[in-house]
Amino acid sequence: MESLINDIKKYEEISEQLEINLFDRKFLLDKISIFANDFIEKLPNLRSYTSKEINHKKISIDNNTKSIDEIINIYNDEVIESGIVAASGGHVGYIPAGGIYASSLADFLAAVSNEYAGVSFASPGAVAIENEVLNWLKKVFSFPEDAVGNLASGGSISNLIALTAARDKHKIKNEKIPKSVIYLSDQAHHCIKKSLRIIGLEDVILRYIELDDDFKISVEALKKQIQIDKNEGLNPFLIIASAGTTDVGVIDPLDSIAQIAKENNLWFHIDAAYGGFFVLTSKKHLFKGIEKADSIVVDPHKGMFIPYGVGAVLVKDAKAVLHSNLYTASYMQDAIPKDILENPTNLSPELTKHFRGLRIWLPLQYHGIESFIACLEEKLLLTEYFREKLVEMGFKVGPKPDLSVSYFWYPREKNQNEFNKKLMEYIHKDGSVFLSSTSLKGNFVIRMAILSFRTKITTIDRALSMIKNSLNNTFQELSA
Ligand SMILES: Cc1ncc(COP(=O)(O)O)c(C=O)c1O
Repeated sequence: MESLINDIKKYEEISEQLEINLFDRKFLLDKISIFANDFIEKLPNLRSYTSKEINHKKISIDNNTKSIDEIINIYNDEVIESGIVAASGGHVGYIPAGGIYASSLADFLAAVSNEYAGVSFASPGAVAIENEVLNWLKKVFSFPEDAVGNLASGGSISNLIALTAARDKHKIKNEKIPKSVIYLSDQAHHCIKKSLRIIGLEDVILRYIELDDDFKISVEALKKQIQIDKNEGLNPFLIIASAGTTDVGVIDPLDSIAQIAKENNLWFHIDAAYGGFFVLTSKKHLFKGIEKADSIVVDPHKGMFIPYGVGAVLVKDAKAVLHSNLYTASYMQDAIPKDILENPTNLSPELTKHFRGLRIWLPLQYHGIESFIACLEEKLLLTEYFREKLVEMGFKVGPKPDLSVSYFWYPREKNQNEFNKKLMEYIHKDGSVFLSSTSLKGNFVIRMAILSFRTKITTIDRALSMIKNSLNNTFQELSA
């Protein structure tokens, strides 16, 4: 026994290092806080994009310990100074958000107290906050109180949860799979197809419905196709629409699609990961019908400017979600709540989960919703401003977007795609503002996605002057 105790003490002396003492905690937090504040202050002057080779040796894990200063330096050199500065307002590509500071404080709190947000027995307070955020989202989207939801890691997993519920509600399995039909647009985000593969629906029939000139699902074409499929003895079961497409930022005609879904007894899913929170703005009318969906996805790490790592799904049919996610095990017998819908783990593939609710709840409590809404309205107007200025510079722009994503290109009689590709290269080389590109109907176009809470009119002016220089460089290179 004595030798056992001695051995325990020997290890305790070393393992105790993991519990940092009060003095060192203050010291470390101060260092991190100074770095974080410097970073935020420097942001307006940082390039938004830098193409840089990572020094893998510098980040390699060996048995040597490092000081906090060394660690922060590595973080700065290898993480901050490479790729897109996603916290910058100059991130105007893909789908930005910025990452509000209040959320990072929430993450710090959640990590320090290490709340277990999967089951209410473990942390009733944390689970109550997760569920309060979901209840708030139900009100935002006029979903019924008895709808269920989950705060997942992002839009991809949120879509996966919703599509799995649709699959299980309509019992799409075994020999039914190859006869079952899903209707969607080719503008649907690629995570939808990825989810379908993951959940065993790779072999369903995907009908890409004709789009109108604004890249929205044609209601007539959808109706016709469903009828054709029914006549052929197929099994239509799901329509997927977007409320804010990634490429062009448009909202499908939700209300009419909801009507078609109802008439044909199909599950209606809306991916509002990017655009959903614009329902709080003057664009509310474009979302008419969203409340009629069976399931929706909306990403707080997009339209609420929360740092990466939280998406949300709402589903009306609780039974369908429970079908794929409700499991118990003997080691969980203490943790079964009176209401099985209370536990996030029963509504998602995750058991242990990050306490994501706090990163939304804390900022909402601290800032109130009005500042978020003003920020979204500002982004809509900045999109208009950017487009008008581009037209003045001789660019062509895509159709007037519903929200804050749009695209443009420089018109050329010959080799237009090559010209715009070269222009994109110059824009990336400059990097003062980051834009990304896409292909639409065979045309290479440059995308703007204005959604970072830090994107201001000064950012757009900076982007315009960068584009002007890049355009001159492109002309020079291609005429040389
Ligand atoms: C419309 C839409 N749906 C889904 C996703 C995927 O979300 P995430 O990257 O959070 O997984 C995105 C990402 O940009 C998106 O724009």
